Amino acid sequence: MLGFSKSNNIMKAKFPDESKTIQTDIVLPADTNSLDNLFGGELLARMDKVASIAAVKHSENVVVTASINNVSFGEPVPNGSILTIEAKVSRAFRTSMEVFIDVWKQNKTHPQKYKVNEAIYTFVAVNKRGKPIKVPEIIPQTELEKKRYDAALRRRQLSLVLAGKMKPKDANELKAIFE
Ligand SMILES: CC(C)(COP(=O)(O)OP(=O)(O)OC[C@H]1O[C@@H](n2cnc3c(N)ncnc32)[C@H](O)[C@@H]1OP(=O)(O)O)[C@@H](O)C(=O)NCCC(=O)NCCS
Repeated sequence: MLGFSKSNNIMKAKFPDESKTIQTDIVLPADTNSLDNLFGGELLARMDKVASIAAVKHSENVVVTASINNVSFGEPVPNGSILTIEAKVSRAFRTSMEVFIDVWKQNKTHPQKYKVNEAIYTFVAVNKRGKPIKVPEIIPQTELEKKRYDAALRRRQLSLVLAGKMKPKDANELKAIFE
C-alpha cells in the first residue's frame, strides 16, 4: 500500500495523482487590473494556495514556498472568466517538492477550457520549528508525469544557482544541456 505511515516513521513512495488538487473559481472585478483582466499577483496567490495543498497532500506535513521557478502569463484572463487551477507534485527530493501548475480559463469567447498559464513552484516540508523534514519519494506514471519528473532536476539546479545556493560549476544536469 502506498502512503506515509507516521506510526512507524516509514515513508513509502507515492504517485503524482495522490497530490492532485483542482480549484475552480471566478474572476471578479476586485481581482482585476485597469484593463479588466486578472491581476498577475492575484493569479500567483491563487496558484500558491492550490500548489501548497498539493505539497501538503504529498508530504502530509506543513509546507512553505521556497521558490517560484517559472511563471508564464500566456493570455489575459478577463473579468467574469471561470479559472481552473490544477496542481500536482512533479518530483520530490529530500525535503523539497516541485509542484507543476496548469491554468485554464473559460468565458464567452472561450466556452471550452483554454490553457492560459503554467507555473512551477518549489515547497519544503517543515517541522514545528520551521526546519526542513523528509518527504516521500514520487513515482511518475504517465508520459507527461515522467517528462516533468526528468526535467525537474535541471529546474532545481537552475533555481538553486539563481538563489546563490549552488555553484554553477556543480550544476551538472544544467551544464549537460549546453554540452
Ligand atoms: C525554504 C526554507 C525552509 C529552506 O530552509 P534552509 O534552512 O535554507 O534549508 P536547506 O538549504 O537545507 O534547503 C531545504 C530544501 O529546500 C531546497 N531549496 C532551498 N531553496 C531553494 C530554492 N530557491 N529553489 C529550489 N529549492 C530550494 C533545498 O534544495 C533543499 O531541498 P532538498 O532537501 O530536497 O535537497 C527556508 O529558507 C525558509 O523557511 N524560507 C521562508 C519560506 C517562506 O516563508 N515562504 C513564504 C514566502 S512569503
